[in-house]
Amino acid sequence: MQILWFKCNEIIPGVLIALIAIILALSGFLVSREIQPLNDTDYLCNMASNSETKLEEFKQEDHTAFVLGYTGEVGKELLKELKRTRPFKKIVLIGRRIIDLDPDFGPEFEQKKVDFDNITDYKEVFDGIDTGFCCLGTTRGKSGSEGFVKVDHDYILNSAEVAKEKGCKHFTLVSSQGADKNANLLYTRIKGQVEEELKVMHFDRLSVFRPGVLMCDREESRPGEAFFRTVLKPFSYFFPTAITTPTDVVAKAMVRVAVSKTENTTELFENKAIHALAGNVKCKVKKKSTNTDADQDL
Ligand SMILES: NC(=O)c1ccc[n+]([C@@H]2O[C@H](COP(=O)([O-])OP(=O)(O)OC[C@H]3O[C@@H](n4cnc5c(N)ncnc54)[C@H](OP(=O)(O)O)[C@@H]3O)[C@@H](O)[C@H]2O)c1
Repeated sequence: MQILWFKCNEIIPGVLIALIAIILALSGFLVSREIQPLNDTDYLCNMASNSETKLEEFKQEDHTAFVLGYTGEVGKELLKELKRTRPFKKIVLIGRRIIDLDPDFGPEFEQKKVDFDNITDYKEVFDGIDTGFCCLGTTRGKSGSEGFVKVDHDYILNSAEVAKEKGCKHFTLVSSQGADKNANLLYTRIKGQVEEELKVMHFDRLSVFRPGVLMCDREESRPGEAFFRTVLKPFSYFFPTAITTPTDVVAKAMVRVAVSKTENTTELFENKAIHALAGNVKCKVKKKSTNTDADQDL
């Protein structure tokens, strides 16, 4: 008993010190990410500002859209945002299954069931649609390495190719923080490769979003991810733009970008930029009339 007490006396302070060291290291990392300045602040803030006016102008142009991966966590939030803002006269929801859709969505939301292994047999679902959103994806845990590559690489690129052939001008992809075609990690490597392969398809406009860890109440059970999200939750409260992104923030940013005009043919939005687009980062916007800078909450 005495030996046990002696051991506890030794172990508990050691464990506590290790825990405090981990928390401090993580906090230091998150602080450095949180205070990292945004690149292209003017570009992002201008895109996020006056969003109501841009939305109204965009609506007048009678655009149409498709959404791939609309049953996923980002996809569901995107649908809510599209329902709230209604920028498109028609929205085709393309997936491997049909779901019960709230009647509030209205007749402009149309579901189409396809077989992604033979997407060229379903070309007509993309006919004449000018804007595409892609939130497709799976995990190695769920689908294995091959299955992951099939969905996150092949399905996305094959669909993009058909969409382009059928008239898609603006393609928007939800990729991931850390995407890098040369990465050792399969996940980030595939994400990076898909981005690169989309670039050479030469859409009139390609918008790539690289969110951090997605914060949401995930419907599907993914215990590892759920544990990670629980650990990150308190940190994301203090450092909201460091490495996490709520799915509704991604969706809001995607719609704001879609209705904004730009000269750029390829845009890449990292995690913090996504928060800025959604209006979660204080922006300095040049006021045209006075030619002075003014802080503005967007
Ligand atoms: N998890 C994260 O923290 C994180 C972070 C950064 C980026 N991302 C990326 O962000 C994107 C969206 O993530 P998410 O969490 O919204 O994804 P999700 O909830 O897993 O949804 C994925 C979507 O892809 C569809 N899909 C999956 N496997 C399919 C298959 N074999 N055939 C046809 N459709 C299939 C799903 O359809 P069903 O509903 O029919 O399955 C669903 O609509 C993904 O590319 C993901 O890699 C995730």
